[in-house]
Amino acid sequence: MDVIEAYGARIPIVGFGTMTLKEALCVDMVDAALRLGYRHLDTAQNYGNEREVGEGLRRSGLRREDVFVTTKVWFNRLAAGDLERSVDESLQRLELPFVDLLLIHWPNAQILLAESIGVLCKVKRTGLAKHIGVANFNVAMLEEATKLATEPLAALQIEVHPYLDQTKVIAAARRHGMAVVAYCPLARGKVPADETLQRIAQAHGKSPAQVALRWLEQQAIVPIPRTSKRERLAENLGSLDFTLSAAEMADIDKLKRPGSRIVSPPQAPQWDT
Ligand SMILES: NC(=O)c1ccc[n+]([C@@H]2O[C@H](COP(=O)([O-])OP(=O)(O)OC[C@H]3O[C@@H](n4cnc5c(N)ncnc54)[C@H](OP(=O)(O)O)[C@@H]3O)[C@@H](O)[C@H]2O)c1
Repeated sequence: MDVIEAYGARIPIVGFGTMTLKEALCVDMVDAALRLGYRHLDTAQNYGNEREVGEGLRRSGLRREDVFVTTKVWFNRLAAGDLERSVDESLQRLELPFVDLLLIHWPNAQILLAESIGVLCKVKRTGLAKHIGVANFNVAMLEEATKLATEPLAALQIEVHPYLDQTKVIAAARRHGMAVVAYCPLARGKVPADETLQRIAQAHGKSPAQVALRWLEQQAIVPIPRTSKRERLAENLGSLDFTLSAAEMADIDKLKRPGSRIVSPPQAPQWDT
């Protein structure tokens, strides 16, 4: 599978998102995803499924080094001491010696960014996380974080799909050499009903979901679609074997519209759009 490179991180261009997947279903889906060819798993302390993600990885029989594993530290665990403990707990649940990418899941206005970024960099130096990054930061926070960091921030994970304008924060991430990872790449299941995506999909013998994922991949953005259905695992991986024309890419770009952000909990920062 193609990879997106940033500061030595080699991130497989499609990942498997695991939010909401629990217990046996999570183990089965992670195992099935890896057997189908996924090489990138996205979990988080807050998803309550790190144990199952680790078990699915072991059940697949793949070598640890062949799979890129991301986890995240929840925003109430960002203080010095607590952040390190959170990482230790995540690794214990995953039963892994390290994660490939460790992200701050959301910023926390109550804790100095200098403190949490300092500890994040320390965790990278210990080797418990091969690479570090942030999620759900706005442009100003990204600028501050990259100034404070003594180790490279390799990735920004944010909501990206055809309806949401993320131009500013994506440009900021790129200025700092960071990979962009897209959550909600299917707009939480809204894309299949979209007429533009349906039209383009039909022209390629593909599904609207595959077109939405392909639109991201062709911008070197890494989608991490989630599904609880085995057949959709293969469908989403099938985004990799076709090419959208420049005109089709432009038509999808035009789907952006105000009010289309899906994820904005109370701890969200002031968004740039
Ligand atoms: N950093 C953050 O703050 C953050 C926030 C949100 C998500 N994430 C990560 O990003 C991942 C993906 O985001 P998400 O789960 O919110 O949304 P998503 O991947 O955009 O959408 C998931 C939904 O789409 C459906 N779906 C999947 N494949 C499909 C297909 N081929 N055709 C039609 N429908 C399809 C799924 O239903 P079925 O299960 O029925 O297939 C599910 O309801 C998460 O799992 C998580 O790992 C991170």
